[in-house]
Amino acid sequence: MLEPSRNVPGIALVGSGSAVPSQTLSNEELGLRVETNDSWIRERTGIANRQIIGKDETLTSLCCKAGSLAIQMAGWEPESVDLIILATSTPDDLFGTGPEIQGKLGATNAVAFDLTAACSGFLFALVTAAQFIKNGDMNRAIVIGADQLSSWIDWDDRRSCILFGDGAGAVALEKTSYEKNGLLSFKLKSDGRKRNCLNLKQSTDHLSLVKDKSHQKGSYLPIQMNGQEVYKFAVKEVPAILDLLLKSSNIESSSIDWLLLHQANQRILDSVADRFSIPHEKVLSNLSEYGNTSAATIPLMLDEAVRDGRINTNNLIATSGFGAGLSWGAALLRWQGPS
Ligand code: COA
Repeated sequence: MLEPSRNVPGIALVGSGSAVPSQTLSNEELGLRVETNDSWIRERTGIANRQIIGKDETLTSLCCKAGSLAIQMAGWEPESVDLIILATSTPDDLFGTGPEIQGKLGATNAVAFDLTAACSGFLFALVTAAQFIKNGDMNRAIVIGADQLSSWIDWDDRRSCILFGDGAGAVALEKTSYEKNGLLSFKLKSDGRKRNCLNLKQSTDHLSLVKDKSHQKGSYLPIQMNGQEVYKFAVKEVPAILDLLLKSSNIESSSIDWLLLHQANQRILDSVADRFSIPHEKVLSNLSEYGNTSAATIPLMLDEAVRDGRINTNNLIATSGFGAGLSWGAALLRWQGPS
């Protein structure tokens, strides 16, 4: 889908922020828990460490830090924010953690809600926020991607526990002119037929209520994953959706300044880059330090590369998120930065 047409406003990405927990868990330390080792994990995934929420932090505290840094970079007053979308599959409150973040940020005029699309969540939330700005009377939005998968991992399953970490990242979006539009195009997809490849499912424990009535106890099973199926899905669908987007936007892959993919596995990043002949120095990766932080990976990586000066104003970024659902999507972005 191409956007916008000339008579609608554009969307500028003007700020970013991120936060990770202070507790680091190395591959060697994981080897104390399950039968694995540093070289196997590095070779198969590219991951060396992950950050895990411990006693003194919460997902909400990470989101507030990331959101606040994005607001600061954009140079906004918190009261000027119209919309906050929190993309997460692991809210601190199932009724929604977005409103708590809104309150803590002092964004008193913003409407806030959560959106769930697993590892594609940030991209889905970014596109959603852009629609409010483009079609409605909203001018400023904060989009946060954050997850605490450490709470839902089976720490005795070596096939999955090595992959994930916790974190939060945020971007500040602002209404701008058609000429300055920074969301050049996007495409989002779902395939629920493959939902069993990756799940964080409610358990089906039924407890007796009264007489012959029962109720389902509210609790969730640990993450279940068919790693090989997810891998095959990613290396097939991510290049396909990026190809579609580039062709429909008339953009050559050689014009891409940065490839910013969901950070799931270094082999997936390399395979997608090779498919488009994108040199590996243009592939953003911080997997080795954070692992797969689900909805947080894209804004966490974006913020790191903005703050260390790799991403500059007007850089063209090809991004793609993918994960449970199954869900996936891609967008072509132009980073604006603060004015
Ligand atoms: N340490 C050591 N050995 C391990 C291991 C671990 N942590 N996990 C699995 N193994 C073993 C397996 O038991 C198997 O041994 P066997 O051949 O004796 O049976 C062998 O290593 C190969 O296992 P396999 O599952 O085929 O490995 P793989 O090359 O497919 O790598 C993943 C596994 C999970 C790293 C890989 O499939 C992957 O990254 N998939 C995508 C997952 C993902 O990104 N999920 C999130 C998407 S948002």
